Amino acid sequence: MTDKYSGPERIFSGVQPTGALHLGNYLGALKKFVALQHDYECLYCIVDLHAITVWQEPAKLKSQTREIAAAYLAAGVDPDVAIIYPQSLVREHMELAWYFNCVARTGWVNRMTQFKDKAGKNAENVSVGLYAYPVLQAADILLYKATHVPVGEDQKQHLELSRDIAQKFNNDFSVPNFFPLPEPLIKGPGARVMSLRDGTSKMSKSDPSDNSRINLTDSAEVIVKKFKKAKTDMGVMPGPGEDLSDRPEVDNLIGIYAALSGETRQTVIARFEGQGFGAFKPALADLAVDKLSPMTSLMNRYLADPDEIDRILMRGADRARALATPIMDEIRSTIGFLGS
Ligand code: AMP
Ligand code: TRP
Repeated sequence: MTDKYSGPERIFSGVQPTGALHLGNYLGALKKFVALQHDYECLYCIVDLHAITVWQEPAKLKSQTREIAAAYLAAGVDPDVAIIYPQSLVREHMELAWYFNCVARTGWVNRMTQFKDKAGKNAENVSVGLYAYPVLQAADILLYKATHVPVGEDQKQHLELSRDIAQKFNNDFSVPNFFPLPEPLIKGPGARVMSLRDGTSKMSKSDPSDNSRINLTDSAEVIVKKFKKAKTDMGVMPGPGEDLSDRPEVDNLIGIYAALSGETRQTVIARFEGQGFGAFKPALADLAVDKLSPMTSLMNRYLADPDEIDRILMRGADRARALATPIMDEIRSTIGFLGS
């Protein structure tokens, strides 16, 4: 008996098909997906079961699922290498989520800040699924015994819950190291992209102001306009070592530039030190257009052939199921179900 998980390293992540993706999704998640795919076995899921924790129009759910697939592909995820698939097509996600509902403690789930944010004052009237959402997320990851999870900063707490569930399952059933304790891969300047209108709230699909975010479907003109309108302050671009804690919007734009160009923040700061935003913003907009426009046109090309997207997703689901099946058999037998 070793004291460490000794299975293969495996990557799992997911994105909800709940609307157009934005720059935060790209820098926090998609860009990392592409970077990891040749070094690890990777599963990139479109988490439609998570999406339905809040109401989704059925026809829209289908088209949005294909849109996320197109975004994965356009960002550079190779479906012959990484596995991309819709969560609902591998039913074991739901099965394991139930078992984990019986492992996770309500006290743990009650602490989830994302639920509190989403439910707000309306907690009595949101779905049970929204409450159990992070337990399903743990099931997604552990169904494949994934060891690493590339996500944005906002998912840190959900990952901690996944680790707690894995640990408790291993302890309760006396199967040490059966599940790995999955590690988040969060680091990097794109881990928390903030709103262009308010540097203290994160860039989000649900922000009512479209000017708060750069959507992956925005045209070059719209991207330029949004950066031009982005909130800044009366100052100029900072110098090295300057404390930006009271200049969150400026901090955010520098982080976006660094994440897009692949440079460090220090390099970006050194280049623009003392310049006005009238110089920095167009440079940032040009960079964003350079990186995003080819992706947008590729995305549209993929979306023009939905049957091909569906074929890719079905094939991905078959590959995912093949990985999940033996693990699920072990789990059922560990819990003590007859016939397993
Ligand atoms: P979601 O759209 O909520 O399913 O998020 C998909 C992925 O994008 C997750 O890994 C999130 O952590 C990441 N993400 C969402 N918003 C941001 C943001 N503003 N900055 C960085 N990453 C983000
Ligand atoms: N909750 C994640 C989000 O909103 C999406 C997600 C679902 C996920 N299951 C996952 C992310 C498993 C990583 C791993 O962004």
